[in-house]
Amino acid sequence: MTKFYITTPIYYPSDRLHIGHSYTTVAADALARYHRRRGHETWFLTGTDEHGQKIERAAANVGKTPQQFVDEIVAWIKDLWKALHISYDDFIRTTEPRHEQAVQKIFKQLFEKGDIYKSSYEGWYCTPCETFWLEGKLKEGNCPDCGRPVEKTREESYFFRLSNYADRLLQHIDENPDFIQPASRRNEMVAFIKQGLEDLCVSRSTVKWGIPVPVDESQVIYVWLDALSNYITALGWGTEQDEKYKKFWPADVHLVGKEIMRFHTIIWPCILMAAGEPLPHKVFGHGWLLFGSGAEKMSKSKGNVVDPFILIEKYGLDAVRYYLLREVPFGSDGTYTEDAFVLRTNVDLANDLGNLLSRTTQMVNKFAGGKVPQVLPEAGDDILASLADEVVKEYEAALDRLELSTAVVALMKLVQRANKYIDEQAPWALAKDPAQADRLANVLYNLAETMRLVGVLLTPFLIHTPEKIWEQLGLDPAAVRTEPWEQATAWGALPAGTEIRRGNPLFPRIELDKEAAPKVETTPAAPAAPAAPAAPEVKVTEPVEGVAQIEYEDFARVELKVAKVVACEKVPKADKLLKLQLEVGDEKRQIVSGIAQHYTPEEMVGKLIILVANLKPKALRGVESHGMLLAATAADGRLSLVTLDKLDFPSGPRVK
Ligand code: ME8
Ligand code: MG
Repeated sequence: MTKFYITTPIYYPSDRLHIGHSYTTVAADALARYHRRRGHETWFLTGTDEHGQKIERAAANVGKTPQQFVDEIVAWIKDLWKALHISYDDFIRTTEPRHEQAVQKIFKQLFEKGDIYKSSYEGWYCTPCETFWLEGKLKEGNCPDCGRPVEKTREESYFFRLSNYADRLLQHIDENPDFIQPASRRNEMVAFIKQGLEDLCVSRSTVKWGIPVPVDESQVIYVWLDALSNYITALGWGTEQDEKYKKFWPADVHLVGKEIMRFHTIIWPCILMAAGEPLPHKVFGHGWLLFGSGAEKMSKSKGNVVDPFILIEKYGLDAVRYYLLREVPFGSDGTYTEDAFVLRTNVDLANDLGNLLSRTTQMVNKFAGGKVPQVLPEAGDDILASLADEVVKEYEAALDRLELSTAVVALMKLVQRANKYIDEQAPWALAKDPAQADRLANVLYNLAETMRLVGVLLTPFLIHTPEKIWEQLGLDPAAVRTEPWEQATAWGALPAGTEIRRGNPLFPRIELDKEAAPKVETTPAAPAAPAAPAAPEVKVTEPVEGVAQIEYEDFARVELKVAKVVACEKVPKADKLLKLQLEVGDEKRQIVSGIAQHYTPEEMVGKLIILVANLKPKALRGVESHGMLLAATAADGRLSLVTLDKLDFPSGPRVK
């Protein structure tokens, strides 16, 4: 049987967690649910990283012992995962004996082998990152990773011979192209290893809150060796009860934020090699949720965090999970704003999804006596059926690549197409013509069947909605999560005669605070109340000159961002194309643009342009383009870029 072992980072219980941590954990949860749904034997591990200087100090600051301090926060974290319905199979705490004993065993094994040795160390320590730095690596005297101040350390410590494993690691990365994902992070890691790896300090003599070094009572094991080992200690590695280790290791995916990729793709594999254990199949480094107009990384120590409990209470669990899984293309960074959250919920969930269910159940009630009609296939079309097959394939392929947002987009494509299908087929008109009865039956069946399938495809992502959809379709709500996948995703599984049980709207529209709100036109796409008239539920738009008028929401679907051109070159053998490297806040992008006859590469560098950031990637002459820039062409053929007039403006902010 296929097995699937997925992990999240173990979080520091130095403070309450925020939606950044929820983001990783919900993503891992969705993947775990998907694999369970497909019948794979799944193990999903999360936990907390409880030792080290950062926790020691945070506890001291509030006059608590470290153990008291972490116990309270861990209880809070477990409540949070409960509120988000995180389906973890195990929660490991690094202060548990099962973990401490196994870590000591790893340390001892490496020490006896000569891969850990004692030496002295002088350098700098970043406590928020729990990381050592040599003088030469600092950036303006600060931590090169997070930019915060570092402290001088001089200690006798134990060191791990990381340098011995660099060549083997490079070879492994080379032979296993999927080991580090996404690919851009692989390149970064390879470049880092090629600069040369220094041996790694794996113990501290000045910190008390840690696992004692088994061969030297005066030291504790340095947090990263302690923390990374959780992925195997939780499975019972090194004990008599190691069935889980045998069954689930190597991990299929370590899901982590990009800032700790180095620890997971360099240090951890080298420790495993030294211990003679196989390496994880894949480490996936996702991007950050940024916060506010300055698009800063949300972080506990910066205090700019969004409390997930408040969001859940205010907007509901499924809206929060949907936002986290859908909003940010998995792998890239994304900015959290409450406006964008509300917009996403209103557009995708209240309008597209909620209205489709509402319109479908309403029309089955009205035109088919409340029962899913029997169909005569020859009177039908296969518009939704064939798209559904495509969407299921796309969805599965996306989830195999861990591209959660792509999978959500795929299933929402089916929802959007079905809404359009209603407008095209106009069932209310078919209902007026008895000669069209078979055709009407088919249209209604196709809509109800689409809804059934959408319910199934939503099961890894949402907690209540799939059941609600099935309930309204008159199906057994529990079966939406249990019916075998192949059967549940095959078109045509909805039996004729099923009795619709029309209920409340799935997602009530959220009204934005009037003061702060952008001008969102609130045009209900369809009446959702049960007593609504059965009149055509199509919006009649007055014809306008040129391009049709759109709602603000339609415009807001286009993500425009300020981008800085940092490098530019011609695309060989394509006289119209330039290849541009962009900086968009913290993110790097490559786009290809057809402006080579109007601008030279040299002219482009340094310009602040407007990027269409959520355009699907595309290859132009074999060169990948991740977005598009804005420009205008005049009647005489001249072309002008849209640029910013303030030349010292930062890249990254959204344009609206
Ligand atoms: O690093 N956006 O713990 P940590 C996206 N204990 N993800 C975010 C995020 C944000 N703004 N903020 C946090 C540690 N995360 C170590 C890990 S593992 C052996 C030890 C998520 O509490 C993301 O997954 O600082 C990131 O890697 C993790 O939380 C860091 O959590
Ligand atoms: Mg961190």
